[in-house]
Amino acid sequence: MNTSEEYNFNQFSNLPFYTDINANFLEFAEIDDLKTIVDLGCGTGGITKLLIKRFRDAKETMIFAIDHSKTALKTAANEIGETKNIIVKFCHSEVQSLTDVIKDKVDAIVYCNSIHYVPDKSDLLKKIKSKLNNKGILAFNTSFFEGSHPDDSLEFFRKWMLRSLRKVRKEYGLSAKKSDKVQSRVQLNQKQYENLLIENGFKINSISTNRIDVPIEGWHHISGFSDWIEGILPGIPLDIGREVLQKSLAEIWDELKIKSIPRIWLSVSASPKS
Ligand SMILES: C[S@@+](CC[C@H](N)C(=O)[O-])C[C@H]1O[C@@H](n2cnc3c(N)ncnc32)[C@H](O)[C@@H]1O
Repeated sequence: MNTSEEYNFNQFSNLPFYTDINANFLEFAEIDDLKTIVDLGCGTGGITKLLIKRFRDAKETMIFAIDHSKTALKTAANEIGETKNIIVKFCHSEVQSLTDVIKDKVDAIVYCNSIHYVPDKSDLLKKIKSKLNNKGILAFNTSFFEGSHPDDSLEFFRKWMLRSLRKVRKEYGLSAKKSDKVQSRVQLNQKQYENLLIENGFKINSISTNRIDVPIEGWHHISGFSDWIEGILPGIPLDIGREVLQKSLAEIWDELKIKSIPRIWLSVSASPKS
């Protein structure tokens, strides 16, 4: 992942529609009254802030916010500032090293829009299970699974991608490299996630998919996130990728006269099977 602060997730993460998705997700996860929570892949702290808000009246809550991006953690710490009642511990680590970072078992592990990055999900789920109390909860969501693109979003995507590739070629003389798929593009479907959880000793408490109408601001700001640019325009410098994606987006949005483009989020809550 590119570590430049300029291309991080913060602007997208602070958009009201994204905050709403995750606030609803924390409601769905039923993690109230818990004391120790891991915010896995915390990024720039969007979910950490929601957790703090949710637990503001609780006493002795401890949140471990883990991410492998130092710049994201720095932004998260700045955004969060001082907290009352709640201790937030930022941990710079790969999620795969969870068992080294978290010494004692915890009540919940919340993992928002990040599980799709991990190649060996079975190994990670085993580690997560080993760090959860018996009644602990693993709650994750993702909008990068097979099934996240509704049919009525496909024309928009096709046009947006083709226009961007053409602009990169015509205006900058560049072409996107055919590279290995970045990890966030290798997607599992809902059934595969369910099977993985069961194979690794979890029972599923609840699972749901939600269709979300993403406004233009969402697509605009995600186009400034390094992972998105690298996924769509591999090998293109980030500044050029961002400019081209944002320009093409504005043009296509205008031409198709659309108000929003839908995307599906998968939400899962699971617990260790006793
Ligand atoms: C799309 S952002 C989501 C951030 C946050 N959970 C949210 O929803 O606002 C994904 C985050 O996962 C982090 N990440 C991806 N792979 C990781 C890994 N293997 N170990 C630690 N962090 C990882 C990235 O640095 C990034 O901050």
